[in-house]
Amino acid sequence: MVKTKQFFDRQTALTLAKTKIYKEYIEGYLPKLLMTYGTCLIADLFCGAGKNGSKDGSPLILIDRIKYILTSKQLKERKNIKVHILFNDQDEKNIKNLENELSKISFDRSIINIILKNQKYEDILSDLIRKPEKQKIPKFFFLDPFSYANVKMNDLQNLMQLSFTEILLFSPLFHTYRFTTTEAFDEQHKTRRFIEEFTTKGMVDYGNAQNYMHSIREKLLNVITVNKKNSTPYVRSVLLDGGFSKNGLFLITSHQKGMLLMNKILIKNTDDGSTVNVKDLNQSRIFSSYEASTYFDDFKSRFLSYLKEKSELTNEEICDFTIREGFAPKQVKKIIKEQYDKKKLQVFSTSDEEITNSSKWRIADDIKEITKFKIV
Ligand SMILES: C[S@@+](CC[C@H](N)C(=O)[O-])C[C@H]1O[C@@H](n2cnc3c(N)ncnc32)[C@H](O)[C@@H]1O
Repeated sequence: MVKTKQFFDRQTALTLAKTKIYKEYIEGYLPKLLMTYGTCLIADLFCGAGKNGSKDGSPLILIDRIKYILTSKQLKERKNIKVHILFNDQDEKNIKNLENELSKISFDRSIINIILKNQKYEDILSDLIRKPEKQKIPKFFFLDPFSYANVKMNDLQNLMQLSFTEILLFSPLFHTYRFTTTEAFDEQHKTRRFIEEFTTKGMVDYGNAQNYMHSIREKLLNVITVNKKNSTPYVRSVLLDGGFSKNGLFLITSHQKGMLLMNKILIKNTDDGSTVNVKDLNQSRIFSSYEASTYFDDFKSRFLSYLKEKSELTNEEICDFTIREGFAPKQVKKIIKEQYDKKKLQVFSTSDEEITNSSKWRIADDIKEITKFKIV
């Protein structure tokens, strides 16, 4: 009995960690997006029943945040805002329950347009990918299945081929991580197939769940391309560590700003930038411990090798590299300042004038002027 109770306590904490990140991302992502485009589609394709016990699940969190976002003065002034939402779950009971929960909430249904579907994800996905009218508007897909086997690499690739797309994928990693060294699986075994499809290294001993997650991230980067230009997306991963149970969240996006937002959310919610310790999620964290982590050290050495290899980089290249690696420009600035103080690099304007004042180096979230960094 005790064991069962502990198990559910842990599951609940993990669910809270997941929905907290989802909520913070929506809060940051939607206002800017609606100001720019005036519309978007948010599709929660494994949406559940709306409530998990007494707590709001992803659909109700979404509505609550959209209602809040729409109260901003700027958005009130912007005309013709329309948020399209698609909630889908294969379980009819969940959709009925969600419908009932939604009927209790007041919101402007001419702005927030909700469609409820009770289909298998596999069936709804092919419709979504085909519908040409959805091509033009920004799209955010939240994929939160129970099982790691539901979402295929090919699904992610097909979704990312649509324009302006972002995906937040939750994957219950521990169910597969535990079996990466199992020899008894035949080639068609579901777990083995997942591991081989979703990692760069396949069935090997990863040492720890972080390495396993990083191998999945690398595979997503290697395989997925973004719409017609076939460029590489930004992929941010984070381990939700609930002790015994460990899950992964992956943001796949074509937008640098989306990745930067997620980087900042994870800086705030983790000690090391890479792991949410579910148990102490609500305790305040100290920024410096994040920068003392091996995750940061690894980034620092990758950045310094990149700089050495190119010998000259613009602020745009530096910031893009930093954001792709999971950090924010203000963190790379510290590394650059250290190098500058050791007289290992110099900074110039586009007209080749040296810039000695670091506040004019333009290593920032929004770049308004190009600067150049050269190894001495
Ligand atoms: C982890 S729960 C979602 C929880 C929800 N995101 C929340 O925060 O409350 C996963 C949901 O996926 C649904 N599901 C499982 N397999 C599915 C499939 N193949 N197609 C659609 N829904 C599916 C289940 O019925 C379940 O409600």
